[in-house]
Amino acid sequence: MSAHEAPARETTSPSAPATSSTAGTPCAPFAPSAFLVGGDWSPEQWDRDTWREDVELMRRAKVNTVSLGIFSWASLEPAEGVYDTGWLDDVIELITAAGIGFFLATPTASPPPWFTLAHPDAMPVREDGVRLTHGSRDTYAVSAPAYRDASRRIARMLAERYGSHPGLRGWHLHNEYGTLDHGPHAARSFRTWLQRRYGSLETLNQEWSTSFWSQRYGDWEEITPPRTTQYLHNPAQLIDFRRYSSDEMRSAMVEQREEIRAAGSSAPMTTNFMLPTWNHLEQWSWADELDVVSLDHYLDTTGPDAEAHVAYGSDLSRSWSGGPWVLMEQNAAGISLGDRTIPKSPQRMIRHSLGYIARGSQSSLFFQWRASLGGSEQWHSGLVPHAGASTRRFEAVCELGSILERIAPAVRLPADGPLVEAEVGILWHADGWWALETPHLPSDTIRYSDEVRATHRSFWRAGIPVDFVRPGADASRYRLLVVPCLYPLTGEQVTWLEQYVEAGGELVVTYLSGISDASLRIEPGGYPGRLRELLGVRVQEMLPLEAGVQVALDDGGVVEEWTELLETTDAEVLAVYAQGELRGLPAITSSARGSGHAVYLSARLRQDSRDAFFASVAERLEIVPTLAGAAQQGLEVVRRRGDGADHVFLLHHGSESVTVRGDGPELISGQDGASGVRIEPGDVGVLALAPGAPLELLPHPQS
Ligand code: GAL
Repeated sequence: MSAHEAPARETTSPSAPATSSTAGTPCAPFAPSAFLVGGDWSPEQWDRDTWREDVELMRRAKVNTVSLGIFSWASLEPAEGVYDTGWLDDVIELITAAGIGFFLATPTASPPPWFTLAHPDAMPVREDGVRLTHGSRDTYAVSAPAYRDASRRIARMLAERYGSHPGLRGWHLHNEYGTLDHGPHAARSFRTWLQRRYGSLETLNQEWSTSFWSQRYGDWEEITPPRTTQYLHNPAQLIDFRRYSSDEMRSAMVEQREEIRAAGSSAPMTTNFMLPTWNHLEQWSWADELDVVSLDHYLDTTGPDAEAHVAYGSDLSRSWSGGPWVLMEQNAAGISLGDRTIPKSPQRMIRHSLGYIARGSQSSLFFQWRASLGGSEQWHSGLVPHAGASTRRFEAVCELGSILERIAPAVRLPADGPLVEAEVGILWHADGWWALETPHLPSDTIRYSDEVRATHRSFWRAGIPVDFVRPGADASRYRLLVVPCLYPLTGEQVTWLEQYVEAGGELVVTYLSGISDASLRIEPGGYPGRLRELLGVRVQEMLPLEAGVQVALDDGGVVEEWTELLETTDAEVLAVYAQGELRGLPAITSSARGSGHAVYLSARLRQDSRDAFFASVAERLEIVPTLAGAAQQGLEVVRRRGDGADHVFLLHHGSESVTVRGDGPELISGQDGASGVRIEPGDVGVLALAPGAPLELLPHPQS
């Protein structure tokens, strides 16, 4: 898939198999005829009476999709080469009779104990040399031949048996790829990967700067994964190991995909990515291999920031997917954050579900259908809680089902153009995350995903739509492109940014971007070496601030954590430090290049200052929010483009009711939008309008 492809239309019934071409070639976007609702279901945990009760409850809640088999390896293959699919046949027959479709997982995230005993070498080795064993899940060495063979075999078996089933909505390959291995199999395949990347040991030694600390490699066999060592690792080795691990897991996934395709199944392929903390994959290259991106999203914040986080996860997924995507899992109710469970109210569960859909999800699926009574995740919430179906939780699930039925027209995709129109792009690449995780940087407190999220949050708070952008992609549709903390940049990426500005784009680059090449070797002559010319600046020194210290700028902004001793070469100074050691020196600059500008933010703006900064950039560029004034009242407004209609999602996170006028029906309540739709705090609405039709926020008579 290419990022931001114009989705071609395809409509499939939710109970008919969606067709796709093999991933890696252009494929039809994921377009079921109704939003998918349901979630992971593990019938192997329950007796048959419970299955029947579950299916009855699913019908009541209008559930149309379950994800099966995710951790069923031991039930499907109780001993090596011995298959037991009878129970799955029965489950599929039961749901099919009830009109419920399914994603079928390959169960390879959790090999059974027999596998470990037969193939101890296929267990992963931790960084510290400890070889893990079974007893949990995700315990496999992805490059072990025995694991790969066993994975292909079970994928093939499932594809032959179920690959053409009319209820199959798609393949859920594995679950959350992400187990890193430092064992001998990984060492072998890491070396092969390095040979492909560098060609010769001489080049590797140069790229990895191995002349420092006597690390020079004289033979490929001397190279290992970055296992526990006495002191600091070599940063180039660390980042290459992350890249290799992502590529290695991707090749395991592609093998499964090919096995399934070879068995004749044409159902769409996905694997579930995860946010916020799972950073083991380079998502763009994975998306290239999938028919649709799916996401498991577990919120790590409460309060209003949780709503911003929903938008962040959704915008990333839509961007990775290049259009529609699938929310594969969210928590039905509480989530354990640190030392306690943070509840999610039923109303919030509904609002979040619509938040994902507003930004391109074709589903609201959950982990999991029925909360487990035993096992390691017995305290993870379910759509059917431990207390059973006579609960407010299950009532809310039924309400969600009927809301999604009422907004079904919004599932249809536009004939051309993006699902959500954005004029702001934020550059995203896993390299940035991995680079800032290497130890012993000038500051360990600057984290890539926090920086990207802080930038996204500023636009979310302003009500301005955002896409994420792959380095090197066509960025011409974005009037503003922000590069937060992308530490390594290749020469081609720098040229690409230069061309973007030359052609009239507004580029905002922050500290810790363009510092190094792909091997994390710093460009000499002042930071950010790779972007100095474009930005018209030169940083002599990085000056991280002590925790809690804040410094004012002369434009009213306040910075924390990070400052730099910056000089301009030909950039204009937009703001200077008003205090401290750097008083009077530039903090924010702008250089005119071609028809555009390249702005440099050398200090870490506090969130409120960051919000004000980006709001002013947007205002200068006349980039407007989807509905002026709404965000300030806590109303999130997202215009999802559809088939001959725009669906305007109104998600009210604020505390006072609001009224929005738009010429069309509100699909959930049936109110006539022309006379104004009133949305109460915590509620949601979806207006169906003609494409591009205006929207208005009405002043509210206080009642
Ligand atoms: C997900 C995972 C599920 C379940 C869930 C619990 O990351 O895919 O299998 O563990 O977390 O919240």
